[in-house]
Amino acid sequence: MPLDTRNLELSLQITKSPMSFIHIPKSWHIPASQATPEDIYLDRRRLLKTMGFGGISALGVLTGCNRLNAWRPDNPNQDAILQPPSTGPPQASRTQDLYPARHNPAFTLDRPLTPEYTANKYNIFYEFAVSKDVNNYVHKFRTRPWEVEVKGLVEKPQTFDLDDLVRMMPLEERLYRFCCVEAWAMAIPWTGFPFKALLDKVQPMSDAKYVRMLTFLRPSEAPGQQAKWFPWPYYEGLTIEEAMNELTLLATGIYGHELPVQHGAPIRLVTPWKYGYKSIKSIVLIELVNEKPRTFWNDEAPSEYDFYANVNPYIPHLRWSQATERMLDTNEKRETMLYNGYAPYVAHLYKT
Ligand code: MTE
Repeated sequence: MPLDTRNLELSLQITKSPMSFIHIPKSWHIPASQATPEDIYLDRRRLLKTMGFGGISALGVLTGCNRLNAWRPDNPNQDAILQPPSTGPPQASRTQDLYPARHNPAFTLDRPLTPEYTANKYNIFYEFAVSKDVNNYVHKFRTRPWEVEVKGLVEKPQTFDLDDLVRMMPLEERLYRFCCVEAWAMAIPWTGFPFKALLDKVQPMSDAKYVRMLTFLRPSEAPGQQAKWFPWPYYEGLTIEEAMNELTLLATGIYGHELPVQHGAPIRLVTPWKYGYKSIKSIVLIELVNEKPRTFWNDEAPSEYDFYANVNPYIPHLRWSQATERMLDTNEKRETMLYNGYAPYVAHLYKT
């Protein structure tokens, strides 16, 4: 099966705009000649398929074949599981009946909601495309069955089936502002549950200081992950105080229904006082750790994307101002607010 790189080539041509993430080669961006050749990588996958390893856990026993390190030796996420292509017919979610969820009126907006049509067609999800029309490249992706593993410095490590987890969590709808580091903005009705509710279930130990998160690794379904110049899977982190903050959601829905793939189905982070790149999509792993975890965009361009990524109009991005933001749909320009207007909830986290 040849790699389908058409989308990536096309996308890279489109991504010439100054206001977009760019790739800055790193020392660990090994030359293709030193990487595992594609045919060997694909042969491993074919072999696994022939052997009938259809499930993630079955694949997991084949140590050495399921790690990304053969592909990217310096990848910080050596525990990422390379998932095989899904087999069988697509499976439906078992929690669709929970939407629309109860609306929480505590979180109000100072601007109209972004129309769903607009929010669904302007996304950043490099696993599928470097261009914003991500929705055109998601058709192969399966979001069920889906597991989220919670491990590390917790009393009760656990792997949750996503639908079981969603049914046991307090789902609610909240309206939040959303600001991308590229200086465009939206207003979104998310459905999700507080990250704290999940952490309470697994009981973090006292030396847990940070939360590390990983996205899926399934290059057969996500064409962008076939590009070797990014250190897949996407990885992010929060301090434990940030994860426990009452604003921090694990979202499973948007506009009153489940998340479509381009928004990070079936589960993604939402931290409305931070630039959008913190809000990691399609999470499979949450680990409580005691050292600050490395993060995808900070590793790519440390001088442009810091760990905290708090919205701040007074600190320009290296290549553009953050003083104003442009609302998607209307193109209205607004003054960017410190912490995206959520200072009363979060400013205390950053007092030294
Ligand atoms: N998560 C993953 N796994 N991959 C990504 O490329 N992009 C981030 C964030 N989460 C990204 C991701 C960026 S840069 C932004 S601005 C938001 O997702 C965009 O979220 P949206 O498409 O739902 O608006």
